[in-house]
Formats: sequence, C-alpha cells, structure tokens
Amino acid sequence: MPYPKHVSIIEVGPRDGLQNEATSIHVDDKLTLIHDLVAAGCRRIEVGSFVSAKWVPQMADSAALVSQLTHSPKHPNVIYSALTPNLRGLEDAIASGIDEVAVFGAASEGFSQKNINCSIAESIARFTPVIALAKQHNIPVRGYVSTVLGCPYEGDVPLENVLYVARELYRLGCYEISLGDTIGVGTPLQTQRMLETLLLHIPVKHLAVHFHNTYGQALANVLIALQLGITNIDSAVAGLGGCPYATGASGNLATEDLVYMLHGMGISTGIDLPKLIHAGQQITNTLNITPASNVNRALC
Ligand code: HMG
Ligand code: MG
Repeated sequence: MPYPKHVSIIEVGPRDGLQNEATSIHVDDKLTLIHDLVAAGCRRIEVGSFVSAKWVPQMADSAALVSQLTHSPKHPNVIYSALTPNLRGLEDAIASGIDEVAVFGAASEGFSQKNINCSIAESIARFTPVIALAKQHNIPVRGYVSTVLGCPYEGDVPLENVLYVARELYRLGCYEISLGDTIGVGTPLQTQRMLETLLLHIPVKHLAVHFHNTYGQALANVLIALQLGITNIDSAVAGLGGCPYATGASGNLATEDLVYMLHGMGISTGIDLPKLIHAGQQITNTLNITPASNVNRALC
C-alpha cells in the first residue's frame, strides 16, 4: 500500500480546541500555547475565530491575539489562520494581520442553522463576498464542510450534500476543503466512500480531513485518508476540543497521536514529538485537565 512521504498537519488546538472550554483562558496562555506549538515545528496553526462573542465567548480575544502574533517577529514559514464566517469577521481578521482565513459551512441544514444561523444556501451566498475580498487581499481561504459523516440534529447526511457544499466552496476559490466529522461518528469504510466520491471532483492536494475522536475512530479514518493520498490533516494538541453547537462532540484527533502514528509509518511531519508533548502538558496544566492523547499520557 503506497503511503505519502510527508503530511502537512494543520494544528487547530488554539481554535477548535479552546473554543468550547468552560473556563475563560487568558490571552497570554493562548500565546504560550501557540509559541510552544511553533517551537515544536507546527507551521500551520489555526489560532482563533472572528465570530460573535455572544456565540463563542472563548474566541472574543482573537483580534488581540492575532495582532500580537503577527506584529512580533515570527518564524518565516509559520501560517496563522482564523475562522471568518462573514465580511465583518474577514475585515477584522485582515486588520489584525492574519495570514490565512477559513469559511465554515455544513453538509446538513440542522447544523448549519445551529452553528451559523443560516441555511446551506444562505451560507454559500454569505461566503461568496468573503472569499472574493480575501482574494483581493491575497489571503488564502480554507473551506470547512462540517457534519460530513453525521449530524447531531439529523443523523445520516446524504453524500450528495457533502459533495455539493465541498464543490461550491472549491468553485468559489477555497484552496483547500477540510472535511469535518464534527461529532466523530464516522467509521473507516464510510470515510472511504465519502472520500472516494469527493476525489472524483476535487484534486487530492486540495482536500484535508478533520476528525473528532468522540467514538475513537479518528486514527482509523486517517489511515483510510492516507491510503487515498490525502496529505493535509487537521488535529489538536492534547486532543483538545469540541464544537459548542454539536452536543456530545468531544475533542479533535490528538496531534501527538497523529504524529506518533505517522512517524512510525515513516511519514515525516516536521514536528518534534517531545516538544509537542510539552506543549500539550503546558496547556492541559493551565486548564487543569488531563490530555486526551494516549501518546501524551504514555510518554509522561
Ligand atoms: P447572525 O446572528 O446570523 O448574524 O450570526 P447577525 O449579522 O444577525 O449578527 C448577530 C450578532 O453578532 C450582532 O451582535 C453582530 O454584531 C454580531 P448584536 O447586535 O447581537 O450585539 N456579529 C459579529 N460579531 C463579531 N464578529 C463577527 C460578527 N458577525 C456578527 N464576525 C454568526 C452569524 C456566524 C456571526 C454567528 O452565528 C456566530 O458567531 N456563530 C458562531 C459559529 C462558530 O464559531 N462555531 C464554532 C466553529 S465551527 C466548528 O467548530 C466546526 C469545525 O471545527 C469543523 C468541524 O469540526 O466540523 C470548523
Ligand atoms: Mg472541529
């Protein structure tokens, strides 16, 4: 079975990982986490969201955070990204000096309504000027499709819906489409069917996978994605995370577990595992929680 030689990891811990934490997190603790991740070799880091502070209070300091990150000297190859659901979010993100942004839609109407307060069709209409303005500013845009393997409100999600939203985001100019199993329910053969369908329409280098590990399926699903040639994988240090609008959704696939598996398979990531474990220990100590990463727990 041919596997890729290198995988690009998109570290989403500071955003997806922290957005649902119950206790408020000081901006300095987020900065420490991000600097630890950079020191560990992470080069694509999703650091925040330019969304309503009433909806997601934990991300309310994203402008201040990104300004500090982008106005102090940084590693030349690090890309900081943030979620921007509408033009206001994008304008604020640009003002803060962000490198890259992401719009986020869903393959199910129920989740779209609960998460971004609009239908799928309305979300595409909303994203159209966001993607166009970002392009004018030469800011690359990622496009998320949530609930690709199941929805917390509707259960099974038709593959046609996943394909429709992914193709629309790609057509509008998203350079990478990240396929989100928001509630972590998908199993490997389901993942295979979904990816094989998408690959008929979107080139493999423009696809990414984003697995939550609620049912412990994330690494098995990653293996399927690797076999199909996908080399862009989202994960969160210490398995932090959960979406506020997907009840029961636990953390993302832990970056430590992903890196351990990839390195064990001879696939490079550019990430130093001991330093990554340190980053996971630091943030979970700050949050007073245990890392949701088998590798982190095993090696500490
Ligand atoms: P809306 O209610 O439709 O928008 O929200 P609105 O224009 O009517 O505005 C409502 C309020 O939000 C107003 O404030 C606006 O000013 C404010 P009020 O008058 O009530 O005081 N507002 C904003 N504030 C700051 N920044 C903005 C902004 N826009 C409006 N950009 C909106 C639409 C999308 C803003 C809202 O629904 C929202 O913020 N939702 C939060 C969505 C979110 O962050 N979800 C979690 C991330 S997605 C995820 O985790 C899934 C993912 O990981 C993939 C996966 O796992 O599947 C990506
Ligand atoms: Mg997510």
